[in-house]
Amino acid sequence: MPDSANGSPLRVALLGCGVVGTEVARGILTNPIDLEARVGAPLELVGVAVRDLATERDPVVPRDLLTTDAEALVDRADLVVEVMGGIEPARSLILRALRGGAAVVTANKALLAERGPELFEAADAAGVDLSFEAAVAGAIPIVRPIRESLAGDHVRRVLGIVNGTTNYVLDRMTTEGLDLDEAVAQAQALGYAEADPTADVDGFDAAAKAAILASLAFHTRVSIDQVAREGIRGITADDVAWAARTGHVIKLLAVAEVIGPVDDGEVSVRVHPALVPVSHPLATVRDAFNAVFVEAQGAGPLMFYGQGAGGRPTASAVLGDVVSAARRRLTGGQGLRESKDQDFPVLPAEAAITRYQVRIDVEDRPGVLAQVAGVLAEHGVSIDTVRQVSASAAVHEDLAQEHGTAHLLVTTHAAREASLAATVAAVSALEPVREITSVLRVEGS
Ligand code: NDP
Ligand code: HSE
Repeated sequence: MPDSANGSPLRVALLGCGVVGTEVARGILTNPIDLEARVGAPLELVGVAVRDLATERDPVVPRDLLTTDAEALVDRADLVVEVMGGIEPARSLILRALRGGAAVVTANKALLAERGPELFEAADAAGVDLSFEAAVAGAIPIVRPIRESLAGDHVRRVLGIVNGTTNYVLDRMTTEGLDLDEAVAQAQALGYAEADPTADVDGFDAAAKAAILASLAFHTRVSIDQVAREGIRGITADDVAWAARTGHVIKLLAVAEVIGPVDDGEVSVRVHPALVPVSHPLATVRDAFNAVFVEAQGAGPLMFYGQGAGGRPTASAVLGDVVSAARRRLTGGQGLRESKDQDFPVLPAEAAITRYQVRIDVEDRPGVLAQVAGVLAEHGVSIDTVRQVSASAAVHEDLAQEHGTAHLLVTTHAAREASLAATVAAVSALEPVREITSVLRVEGS
């Protein structure tokens, strides 16, 4: 395995030259003096692995650096930057790099959330760094603050908007009254959403980030399949309009929290749309921006905000990791290793505890509200507020035509997901109930 002598360049291999990779290359190639000053040795970009050599690329990337032989490139690097995405061949290339003694920087949240432990073990066995600041919330420094700055504290809760595409979509639905498909089409036109927006819209991208954040915050291995996931596909223009009527906006949230004592609890990790009060700072996060709230025992509440996606913002986080890893490579030693000592049990989705707002269309006649309230009481779900809106005061004209229908908005106190599901099933079976029009979680109040 090649190594760098004092003063000689550190060889950097870049795997991927797409949205992020191009900007990482630009950073390394156009800013060599600053990077050298911070690292203590020059960084030499020795090659850029791509799938297709014929693809037209930004002229900042010299064509003679491009290669389709990623393995050979990895073998001659001191530091490997993986920004190709996906599980394979990214996983095999990272393992090859680590086992060969190279430090690795990756932005690949999907891989970390699915195969993180295997990668961390390989890094530890080789005594090299595996850094991944860009994998969560793009440019926002959130991995390092949780992993390092809060290493002496106990994190109780992480609550965040960690997917820019869905935040953009929900923002347009809120501000322009678009329906979901129209807003997704706008996000695609602007390059936020992929041609297949499934990973964003169905919450997979946010779930991967939630798994990473929870693993770091609670020193517990959490994989993506342990994250309860619900995307925004079911959110309608009507839901958004009703949210506004009750002083909320709808956001796709990643929530990771300890239930019970912070040093001996259980972990709940979930991604779902939620009603957030307009007064809450997360409600003000617009467009494709991200924000993450962290509540720690000693530090109290902390908030991180910024650009969660895009080439340059993401490359900024990648380059920060490159400088740190390169510096350690030069001076010796390894950064923080995977921390999993708390090993808290991860709760199943049904055990999550949240407040809910249930919107129910009922016959507008005496006694109906009492029947609904009775069902909630039977299931041990405590009501916080009830609001009844007659059809004539409804937000949409079509609803105003539904004579004899009242819209009930029932907001509960915190309840277990399983109890709420059973309650909703029982309420929908009541004779005067016409339809349960939405069930949304409420966070941040
Ligand atoms: P792109 O699809 O834009 O780029 C991927 C690059 O990897 C392309 O250059 C592609 O080559 C190359 N590549 C893919 N597969 C292979 C392969 N098998 N062998 C060689 N090269 C390959 O992805 P992004 O830049 O958007 O994302 C990269 C990573 O960064 C992903 O893990 C993503 O999740 C993460 N990320 C992205 C953010 C963003 O805003 N885009 C934000 C935060 C993280 P070719 O050009 O020839 O097709
Ligand atoms: N698709 C992701 C988003 C990219 O929209 O936030 C950043 O991880």
